[in-house]
Amino acid sequence: MNIVLLGAPGSGKGTQAQPLSVRYKTPHISTGDIFREEMDQMTPLGMKVQEYVNSGRLVPDALVLEVMTQRLNQPDCEKGFLLDGFPRTVAQAEALDDYLRSAKRPLDKVLYLSLSEKEVIRRLSSRRQCVRCGKVYNLMTQPPQIADHCDVDSAGLFQRDDDRPETIEKRLRVFNDLTEPLIAYYHGLDMLETIPADKPVSEVAQIVIKILDTFPRT
Ligand code: AP5
Repeated sequence: MNIVLLGAPGSGKGTQAQPLSVRYKTPHISTGDIFREEMDQMTPLGMKVQEYVNSGRLVPDALVLEVMTQRLNQPDCEKGFLLDGFPRTVAQAEALDDYLRSAKRPLDKVLYLSLSEKEVIRRLSSRRQCVRCGKVYNLMTQPPQIADHCDVDSAGLFQRDDDRPETIEKRLRVFNDLTEPLIAYYHGLDMLETIPADKPVSEVAQIVIKILDTFPRT
């Protein structure tokens, strides 16, 4: 199945995508994760995107599309994909449509995780991540068992640079201006399914699974 997870920063796209990827044996492709890995390894791409990512601005469409075309051409995507954080502008959505049309692999659904700005700010300011395995925690809703240490490998936790209050505000503005129009875009294509993301993780997952289970598995 070919699925897009759409939603404001912190709406839970990554949290939902990880177990869904296991359940449906479909790669979870997060543009944010791709960029952060490149930044950690200080590759030429990482150096190019660093300033955008850390300041909460969008990486230019041309660069994102180059990265995503390469990624979607990998063999693991032949049976489907779960896109998280892409597309993020109407231009990216149109380019994705063109690519999928030429590859004869239409999108099945766009799941929009809907969450209030107040809750986005609350979740992002309390998000922490393991320095080693990348597991995501939330100090308020999903804290680690031992403070500041990952449950999986006991490594320390860090806060993403773009989860600082002033950058969260910027990311929300960027979402409202550039990404929110995608809701109307996909609604117009009759592809949008709105998910109330203000519920506990397991309840959101149940709603999503009920929708995705209606698609044939590959
Ligand atoms: P990216 O990494 O994609 O950031 P984002 O879209 O802002 O999303 P997040 O990763 O912040 O949040 P999420 O929705 O995955 O929430 P999570 O599950 O972690 O992008 C980063 C940057 O890269 C962008 O700003 C941009 O610069 C660049 N970029 C990426 N893609 C791009 C593109 N296509 N074009 C241009 N630039 C691009 O959850 C958040 C917190 O809430 C966690 O602590 C979690 O534990 C908790 N939580 C999750 N669900 C629940 C729940 N149901 N109840 C309670 N707590 C919950």
